[in-house]
Amino acid sequence: MNITGWVERLIRPEIRALHAYHVQPAADMIKLDAMENPYGWTPEMQMAWVERLRGQCFNRYPDPSASKLRELLTQRLDLADNQQIVFGNGSDELIQLIIMAMANAGAKVMAPAPTFVMYDMIARFVGLDYVGVPLNADFTLNLPAFLQAMQQHQPAVVFLAYPNNPTGNAFAREEVEQIIKQAPGLVVVDEAYNAFADDSFLADIARYPNLIVMRTFSKVGLAAFRLGYMVGDQAWMSEFDKVRLPYNINVLTQMGVAFALEFEDVLAGQAAQIKADRETLAAQLAEFVGVQVYPSQANFITIRLAPGLATRIFEGLKADGILIKNLSSAGGLLADCLRITIGAPNENQAFLKSFASHLQANAS
Ligand SMILES: Cc1ncc(COP(=O)(O)O)c(C=O)c1O
Repeated sequence: MNITGWVERLIRPEIRALHAYHVQPAADMIKLDAMENPYGWTPEMQMAWVERLRGQCFNRYPDPSASKLRELLTQRLDLADNQQIVFGNGSDELIQLIIMAMANAGAKVMAPAPTFVMYDMIARFVGLDYVGVPLNADFTLNLPAFLQAMQQHQPAVVFLAYPNNPTGNAFAREEVEQIIKQAPGLVVVDEAYNAFADDSFLADIARYPNLIVMRTFSKVGLAAFRLGYMVGDQAWMSEFDKVRLPYNINVLTQMGVAFALEFEDVLAGQAAQIKADRETLAAQLAEFVGVQVYPSQANFITIRLAPGLATRIFEGLKADGILIKNLSSAGGLLADCLRITIGAPNENQAFLKSFASHLQANAS
């Protein structure tokens, strides 16, 4: 048998049917596609980090429970005695832990559509059914449809990205609470963009036994370290922790994030700058005729263009060395949509200039 025969016989058909998560090549480009923080570390931080690394040995496994980070976050988040943290290699890994631990035969995973693609992908990896409930055309929750879908499908777990990716909006708090109250299973509020948002469900964990909250350091300047965490009652967390592979958070990540938290004011200042620049860019984009700008509480802005334009504008920007995310190919509610991560002010202005020229070229 040739190798394709082996693969086809042995790899699960639903895995063969998937496409690998695609990361766009971005060398030498202005990178506004992946919700990264555009700012590096200050020279002072860089010097202090190098000092911190001096004399470190890397021959031992890392602290399996990341106790220093755990202590730092437990204090900062002011967690109650019954609340615990589980760390993941990015919050992607946390999604995987949750879904793996809940993968009873026939269990379903539910989320609004469109939303972060990993909920769907990981449900498929694990062999669970995934139900996406369409948002309204303006990307708000369709609450009656969501409640009805929960009733019908009885999902074991519901994921709500708050704010949502790729749309940028935060759903109405009362509607999220309705979902938590009526859900037959666990609700995971994914606060990946919390640093740029006005509201959080962290304090609500104490009120709802079926709620946990997930966050990440990826959007606040530490994407390279890959660290996410979830917070919830220890009854949930101790179960998810059993599925976590030992030593999933490497030594450099544990050291680096703890180090960066000593410079919290720098990271907070960058997030505040990004929020202010988001408002500036949103107002500038709104001035273009035919460009619909959706409200954002994240570090990106999603826009809708006239039918058929999005891919042409995306390609034009790319030819000018500016990489954003073309959502249009996903179709459905995202047809004609583009997503722009907020960069440094000069990057945002370079984007705007190129965007304006391509919009004009395509209008004439
Ligand atoms: C809503 C949401 N959750 C989780 C993630 C994953 O983040 P991490 O880098 O921590 O894996 C993303 C990344 O884009 C996201 O948009």
